[in-house]
Amino acid sequence: MRTASLTAAVAVAAALGGAAGACGEDSPGPAAAGPTPSEHDASAEEGGVDAEPPPDAGAEPDGGFVWELPAWFPRPVVPADNPMSAVKVELGRHLFYDTRLSLNRSQSCASCHEQKRAFTDGRAQSLGSTGEEHPRNAMALANVGYVSTLTWANPLLLTLEQQTVVPIFGDEPVELGMRNREGELLARLSAEARYQVLFPRAFPGDPAPVSVGNVVKAISAFERTLVSGNSPFDRFSHGGEADAISASAKRGHALFNSERLECFHCHNGFNLMDSTNYEGKSAPEVRFHNTGLYNVGGTGAYPAPNRGVMEITANGDDMGRFRAQSLRNVAVTAPYMHDGSVATLDEALDHYAAAGRTIAAGPNAGVGSQNPYKSSLVIGFELTPGERADVLAFLHALTDDEFLTAPRFASPWGQPCPLCE
Ligand code: HEC
Ligand code: HEC
Repeated sequence: MRTASLTAAVAVAAALGGAAGACGEDSPGPAAAGPTPSEHDASAEEGGVDAEPPPDAGAEPDGGFVWELPAWFPRPVVPADNPMSAVKVELGRHLFYDTRLSLNRSQSCASCHEQKRAFTDGRAQSLGSTGEEHPRNAMALANVGYVSTLTWANPLLLTLEQQTVVPIFGDEPVELGMRNREGELLARLSAEARYQVLFPRAFPGDPAPVSVGNVVKAISAFERTLVSGNSPFDRFSHGGEADAISASAKRGHALFNSERLECFHCHNGFNLMDSTNYEGKSAPEVRFHNTGLYNVGGTGAYPAPNRGVMEITANGDDMGRFRAQSLRNVAVTAPYMHDGSVATLDEALDHYAAAGRTIAAGPNAGVGSQNPYKSSLVIGFELTPGERADVLAFLHALTDDEFLTAPRFASPWGQPCPLCE
């Protein structure tokens, strides 16, 4: 069972240096998961993609760490036991791009999370280091520090520290394949000259700084810096640049926010998604939705093992419920949806326009629009060709080229490293 092995992986994190997160060591059980996974259809607090987060709370920003955030972004939540520092972020970046993290040295995190694709891999479903196919699509990591529940449909993964353990040590599926190979991993890392400087600097006072817990903490700190907020749409909506996006994209923005298309109910706020958390927010938002992508045999079923939150909770009503994605950089993250079964943005619009996808033949045949578990916000609509082009122009205006090319997010190997000296 994936649930069991995932819980085991999170327990490994807790045992190894207490990296399992902000909520203490108690990994919440399915029934008592901290925030309740609920579908909150009315979304009253968020007024659409332009909703402003509250201003930063607190005067001491992370021990002097300098965030490179757009002025109108809140600060990500940082666990008390993993404060930010420039040298820790640099260590995390090295680890993120280090193939020594996979047993056969063939993959790093970046193998499935490529910067130029907003940290996705271009595949429908990822391939692990041993060739095993992942059941799901690699996720974009832009603004991942603001996500309240990590991965496609897991109400239990609440921090990046908890999530990072899964690709390194998980074996359902094998990604990096390091299960029970902690000693081997640490021996490899200890032999690297840069790490001999970076680990002690990143974890001062730790008598054994090269530890699995610290690997996890450093990667998570790097991930919190993956901030994307400089798309043409940002420059238009917050940068005072009225011409940063085309007239067509402006019309598309209005359609996106309309009660006709309803997109903004689930893709809202500064990160264009509804499961967010940040410093100063009263409580993390946690939402999962069934959008009618499948309805196998008319029963409402999604094909196993991708049945959404139900895989974790075993609650039948959670069938097909997944987390809405941020639509930032969505033009470069194809293919789409949890299983990569939607090839293009045009096809994604077809799915919503039809109020759910119909699959005519084959083992997954069914009329998604009639899925009994479907969200009441996926209601269907008609678009003229011009309106369709407008919505697509808006989605393309969310591409942040600076994020996709910034050297600070690229591989540091082979580059100068002042903090390593
Ligand atoms: C074999 C390809 C592969 C590798 C290697 C990999 N990932 Fe992923 N990543 C995925 C897939 C697939 C998902 C979606 C997982 C799911 O839903 O179960 C994902 C999801 C994530 C998420 C969740 C993002 C979100 O919005 O919730 C984070 C964070 C992440 N990966 C970070 C990492 C880090 C850090 C590493 C290296 C330690 C890594 N990944 C290695 C494929 C990979
Ligand atoms: C009821 C909530 C809801 C509404 C309304 C909604 N979405 Fe989504 N969206 C989701 C969820 C949940 C997913 C992931 C579904 C899955 O993988 O099964 C998603 C996925 C997507 C994706 C794929 C993202 C990726 O990275 O794979 C796109 C594109 C998208 N939505 C665009 C839209 C547009 C455009 C609209 C309006 C026409 C819209 N959505 C309306 C919840 C919603």
